[in-house]
Amino acid sequence: AALQSALTKERRETRELEQRTMLDSIPKDLNRPWEDPMPETGERHLAHELRGVGLSAYNMPDWKKDALGKTLPTFGQRSKLSIKEQRESLPIYKLKKELIQAVHDNQVLVVIGETGSGKTTQLTQYLAEAGHTTKGKIGCTQPRRLAATSVAKRVAEEFGCRLGEEVGYAIRFEDCTGPDTVIKYMTDGMLLREILIDENLSHYSVIMLDEAHERTIHTDVLFGLLKKLLKRRPELRLIVTSATLDADKFSEYFFSCNIFTIPGRTFPVEILYSKQPERDYLDAALTTVLQIHLTEPEGDILLFLTGQEEIDSACQSLYDRMKDLGKNVPELIILPVYSVLPSEIQSRILDPAPPGTRKVVVATNIAEASLTIDGIYFVVDPGFAKQNVYNPKQGLESLVITPISQASANQRAGRAGRTGPGKCYRLYTESAYRNEMPPTSVPEIQRTNLGTTTLTMKAMGIDDPLSFGFMDPPQPQALISAMEQLYSLGALDEEGVLTKLGRRMAEFPLEPHLSKMLLASVDLGCSDEVLTVIAMIQTGNVFYRPREKQAQADQKRAKFFQPEGDHLTLLAVYEAWKANNFSGSWCFENFIQSRSLRRAQDVRKQLLSIMDRYKLDVVSAGRRNLTKIRKAVTAGFFFHGARRDPQEGGYRTLVENQPVYIHPGSALFQRQPDWVIYHDLVMTSKEYMREATVIDPKWLVELAPRFFKVADPTRMSKRKRQERIEPLYDRYHEPNSWRLSKRRA
Ligand code: CDP
Ligand code: MG
Repeated sequence: AALQSALTKERRETRELEQRTMLDSIPKDLNRPWEDPMPETGERHLAHELRGVGLSAYNMPDWKKDALGKTLPTFGQRSKLSIKEQRESLPIYKLKKELIQAVHDNQVLVVIGETGSGKTTQLTQYLAEAGHTTKGKIGCTQPRRLAATSVAKRVAEEFGCRLGEEVGYAIRFEDCTGPDTVIKYMTDGMLLREILIDENLSHYSVIMLDEAHERTIHTDVLFGLLKKLLKRRPELRLIVTSATLDADKFSEYFFSCNIFTIPGRTFPVEILYSKQPERDYLDAALTTVLQIHLTEPEGDILLFLTGQEEIDSACQSLYDRMKDLGKNVPELIILPVYSVLPSEIQSRILDPAPPGTRKVVVATNIAEASLTIDGIYFVVDPGFAKQNVYNPKQGLESLVITPISQASANQRAGRAGRTGPGKCYRLYTESAYRNEMPPTSVPEIQRTNLGTTTLTMKAMGIDDPLSFGFMDPPQPQALISAMEQLYSLGALDEEGVLTKLGRRMAEFPLEPHLSKMLLASVDLGCSDEVLTVIAMIQTGNVFYRPREKQAQADQKRAKFFQPEGDHLTLLAVYEAWKANNFSGSWCFENFIQSRSLRRAQDVRKQLLSIMDRYKLDVVSAGRRNLTKIRKAVTAGFFFHGARRDPQEGGYRTLVENQPVYIHPGSALFQRQPDWVIYHDLVMTSKEYMREATVIDPKWLVELAPRFFKVADPTRMSKRKRQERIEPLYDRYHEPNSWRLSKRRA
């Protein structure tokens, strides 16, 4: 061991020397100034999952190909320790007996411990060894899909089974469990759906709500439901794992239960702050990464960015800048991490960089707590994350880049201190950290559209969500606005009671607009096509547009364009792929992401099986009658209507009168029709409509009679008189138009 450490020391010193000589060749702009360092201890916190779509191997940019091409040691050889030795070296191992005893003695237990101490992967196995699986399954929830699948893979390996046998996972549209499964990892949303089907969760003996401090809306609802279930099932065991910060609050909520602490092992992390606020955090982040790479001793870098697009462009830019630096600088292996990435890249994230090279992991919040990457010595934290922000007054929800909380910043910094003493570069000033960042993040339930959750709760027989007993209740206005939306969709009646349609809608793992669209298509006679459209929308990026071949890609894309809009264009893409035997090379030739299409095929299959289960007709509209499909879209998305505004060269939303635009990539960009329905809005340089479809405004009144009416011409302006359609009631000036407790006499 002494020899080993001497060798490491020597290697480090040689490296430092080399680097010092190299310093002369570092461009000036890579020497960023930092505030005087100040030590900081770690707390942690949360944030939010981001949507991402992977690339298929052949249309991958060079930086990704390069990352894949590296012959890094494979997963199993990652450590010289055997799996058994690895497991026994985890901090949790010494407490195995005590933990098993504590779970035996306590119906609810809050467990806290450093990230990486073994909570997620070991606890379930310990309880299985202790015999809990003879009475039922052990279920462990994760806020993120990627965490659920990657942890299940690891645990299956440790357990010595194939994934889907004793150890499995379930995430939306993907069930990898079997009759033998006793340890089941799943997203919290999946457990919520299971409760919907079996309110007693009778197949489970233990539930572990993992990463509870993330406070996703699903976890928050599960809190309330499980609190009640514990009383009905005294033998059920509940484990809530959380960050230190929230442990007391959680314990208090769950009948002042005991808190079990797993002592951590962490190293000090030096915190550096920017001297001045950064004008361009992305540029500052990349410069910092290069600065570390060229001036700091060995150790990998973790950079936190906000989402897939930003990460991809940052990786590209890093790749280019490294190329510009020439061959004399050590190699930098660039690895992106977001929720959906090819699994080859995913497993490489955990592999150590070969000697003489350094890896930089560019990740979303997922690397904050749910994914442990060993070997990180440097963290670069721009201080932002993408968050769902919801304005209940306007009924608008959007993903926006927001400053993180102090707790979150500390959790990020802590990632640098797992393997040895590390450094965290904060791209904000210390004063911003102290005075501008909130101490903790707002739970999702208080900043999101509650439509889906309210519908699920209603379907569970929770009539009055306002008195449900949330740990942190949502704003009443947000609940009321969710109920209004569900009423307009026909899911609730005038009294706020779930309708037959609403019950059906709740059966689908889709947001209410989409499930309404699907059910409307059954009546309209086009469910076969609408299933495809929904599956395609769920998978995200369908078209591939590489930087070097944009014109060619656009040309190919335009061939699929349908004059009626983007929904039908997506349908046309899928149909063409199907006509070509679901071929991958067809995708390649047409600049289509084959991964997305395969996923769409999968999602479609699953939705189809739910349709079968409830005996809902799957009928095709046939080639000729595409109007039906557009009507189905309207039936679900009438809130998202927009009308052309000739003065401004754009559109105005019907509900908010907000200026919006047709995206340049849309099938309708050239055409600019008078009336459209859009799927959602994305804010880039302007507020763009994503997936827009031409409609006839008469359909609004026909398909959403609870929301639109033909207006009284005597009460209208001249301009309005020509359209004669307006939202039925003005929700914003009559906030009490919905009376929650009103009952018919
Ligand atoms: O849940 P907690 O953060 O306490 O730790 P964990 O996720 O159970 O991870 C314990 C250890 O298992 C980590 O330090 C990793 O080395 C290893 N692990 C892994 O190799 N692969 C995974 N997918 C997850 C964990
Ligand atoms: Mg964990």
